[in-house]
Amino acid sequence: MCGIVGIVGRHSVSQRLLEALKRLEYRGYDSAGIATISGGRLERCRAQGKLVNLEMRLEQQPLNGMIGIGHTRWATHGAPTERNAHPHIVDGIAVVHNGIIENFAELKAELEATGADFETSTDSEVVAHLLAKSRRGGMSGREAMHAMLKRLKGAFSLAILFQDEPATIMAARNGPPLVIGHGDGEMFLGSDPITLAPLTNEVTYLVDGDWAVIEKTDFRIFDSEGNVVARPRHTSMASVDRVTKGDYDHFMQKEIYEQPEVIAGALARYIDIASNRAVQVSTELNFANVSSLVISACGTAYLAGLIGKYWFERYARLSVEIDVASEFRYRDIPLSPHAAALFISQSGETADTLASMRYCKAQGLKVGAVVNTSESTIAREADVIFPILAGPEIGVASTKAFTCQLAVLAALAIGAGKARGTITEDEERQLVMSLIEMPRIMRRVLRNIRPKIELLSKELSGYSHALFLGRGTSFPLAMEGALKLKEISYIHAEGYAAGELKHGPIALVDKNMPVIIIAPHDRFFDKTVSNMQEVAARGGRVILLTDESGAARSKLDTIHTIVLPDVEEIIAPIIFSLPLQLLAYYVAVTKGTDVDQPRNLAKSVTVE
Ligand code: F6R
Repeated sequence: MCGIVGIVGRHSVSQRLLEALKRLEYRGYDSAGIATISGGRLERCRAQGKLVNLEMRLEQQPLNGMIGIGHTRWATHGAPTERNAHPHIVDGIAVVHNGIIENFAELKAELEATGADFETSTDSEVVAHLLAKSRRGGMSGREAMHAMLKRLKGAFSLAILFQDEPATIMAARNGPPLVIGHGDGEMFLGSDPITLAPLTNEVTYLVDGDWAVIEKTDFRIFDSEGNVVARPRHTSMASVDRVTKGDYDHFMQKEIYEQPEVIAGALARYIDIASNRAVQVSTELNFANVSSLVISACGTAYLAGLIGKYWFERYARLSVEIDVASEFRYRDIPLSPHAAALFISQSGETADTLASMRYCKAQGLKVGAVVNTSESTIAREADVIFPILAGPEIGVASTKAFTCQLAVLAALAIGAGKARGTITEDEERQLVMSLIEMPRIMRRVLRNIRPKIELLSKELSGYSHALFLGRGTSFPLAMEGALKLKEISYIHAEGYAAGELKHGPIALVDKNMPVIIIAPHDRFFDKTVSNMQEVAARGGRVILLTDESGAARSKLDTIHTIVLPDVEEIIAPIIFSLPLQLLAYYVAVTKGTDVDQPRNLAKSVTVE
């Protein structure tokens, strides 16, 4: 979740470290800091809050030096204060850390018993103290690194400067990714290739258990036993350009409005527009031969997977085992090696999703990654990649990645149905035609619904709670609508299967409870309308999201009805995502929250 960068350079590094941190801010924005070695001494600058605060600090207090490390923090242990900001310095050793040192309390107690004086309440500071203790005992930097790594439990990536070894950065990876960049007479280190893109596109990935000694023109990688190991060099395709907001107020707004274009681009990879047929994208993962399907992911990506489950079961007659990755990885699930598994992740770095994927691989399943970031760890470790081609998503709340995940899952489910003979050629063509038509409908919806949504959001922003209800694929969508609203507007929201209403949540319904009902005119419509009546009868504030046929049939007194065009069932979840995204966006704008970087969240969750 935190971001790490390092430069062993030929000229001043602090400005370049800062620029690299700007590309890493998606990993956390609680605090940031940089340390350099200049004139044989460690110098450090840190600031609480967003990177702009560090930038202002550096203007007043510039750092010199041609070697340095930087960090942007998403707090795990210890409040996001300047004191807890990285780098931590102990006896001329500076440390930046991403991850969680699980045995830090035990190590801290042991170090304190031998006189260590801790300045912060972070888990990371134990790393600096362990190294300092070994150095005092006469070990070299390398020996101290090797000894320290043997003591750590948990997930971490680290970058370390030793004041008395001023030409070297040491690095280690066990979990969160870390990549070495090869420059011209300079070497770099970063949490991902995107960070390093303006500096170099020649990179070497560290694998779990690796640690490295990096100098200006050379580097050595060691495994956990201290043996030198060779890791391949890659040419990264990460773009140098930083994405801009263009004419939009927020990245999230831009990403909502660019969905028709990116989805059309993504679909072109999975369907043949000339013949209206699904394309077989992988021979390695052939759905025709699998006994069942496993899907796992986190957050919004999990909800996309849940909608995908309905499609794979319905169109491909494949039974789907699905769970959030943080549970899946520890459930000790008996899995058939004849099953296939799909892992869905925008970033491709989510720690729980990665661990779940590794679990399935170890069980002998073929694993596919539905990912946006093709150079991510999940993409590199999967047997097959299904790219969602959404382009960089900067807003922390996922929008276009979600709908692109859905579009790709829909196309894969149709392809699986075709391969398994569970849909006819006619049905396949009908379904594919619906997908082809979708971007045009999305454009129309985005053009038309804004005034109504803006009006509704003014009202909704006055409430503290909201319920979202739906049936079928509208049930996961209800959860996604609630997730979007809570994460950027901080309004407490819950998504429920409409049929579950009377099993508990109905107790919450009164005149202060807006209930957003997602009801396309599908085979569940009449049942959902009955649930709507139950809400209205108890004074609940019904907000209905439906289509033209649904609006014509429901005669209910809603406080707002948002009417979308009638669409085929398979694309309804994608079309109905649009008002939900816009609703969350405009409520957040009305409330004046930080839409693109909501509090406490990070775009890439590399710790469990
Ligand atoms: C919510 C959101 C998160 C992510 C989740 C998984 O808007 O973005 O819930 O979906 O953290 O992230 P990825 O897809 O990168 O694995």
